[in-house]
Amino acid sequence: MIVAIDGPAASGKSTTARAIADHLGFIYLDTGAMYRTLALAALRYAAAGWSEPVVQVLQKSEVEVAYADDGEMRIFLDGEDVSEAIRQPEVGTMASRISARADIRDRMVALQRKIGQAAEPGVVVDGRDIGTVVFPDAPVKVFLTADLEERARRRQEELQQQGQEVSRAAVRKEVKARDRADRERAVAPLRQAADAVVVDTTHLNVQEQVQAIVDLVHKANGGHA
Ligand code: CDP
Repeated sequence: MIVAIDGPAASGKSTTARAIADHLGFIYLDTGAMYRTLALAALRYAAAGWSEPVVQVLQKSEVEVAYADDGEMRIFLDGEDVSEAIRQPEVGTMASRISARADIRDRMVALQRKIGQAAEPGVVVDGRDIGTVVFPDAPVKVFLTADLEERARRRQEELQQQGQEVSRAAVRKEVKARDRADRERAVAPLRQAADAVVVDTTHLNVQEQVQAIVDLVHKANGGHA
């Protein structure tokens, strides 16, 4: 069973998806983490001033996903666990830039499908193109949204918890610019699938948004979990 969750930056996708996966005993696949991992490779490349074209660096960089005993998803770049390193704001911005490339998307989508198809009893997948491109036949599709101001507030709080002090205005600007780039790109742009259910989380707490989606999963399963 595949539960597809798409939506703009900081709409609560990862927190919600992780909680739904826990609730249902599914794995959680964070596809943004994959693009972030390649973005980290590109940023390190830029910092080191290598002469090799960045495209080649990205083609060579190996992204792997593994699940710890507690079910937590970990992500690796050429064998190094980068699950924490990819959370810096500049990595998100770079991820948005490189994820516009069709060759990179093809590789990541193939990996996402492989993980998703092998997942038993199911997987909750979040991203931008999950219901439209990666798993167009997913029985449950959700488009998670929230007001820009609320999303900026959540992202700022998340960064603060990681010890990063960033102004609300700077966070708002970054989130807005990224949404625009994700919506306007030619390849797999962020959009709502025709058969997705919109869940606006502006005035919902995590528990409420999790319950709303768990209800959809039960409905899709004909009343069974
Ligand atoms: O956590 P947040 O919503 O800020 O971002 P993310 O899900 O980690 O994704 C980072 C960037 O990767 C996005 O802005 C997208 O440009 C890109 N992405 C994508 O193109 N397709 C996906 N399935 C997931 C992420």
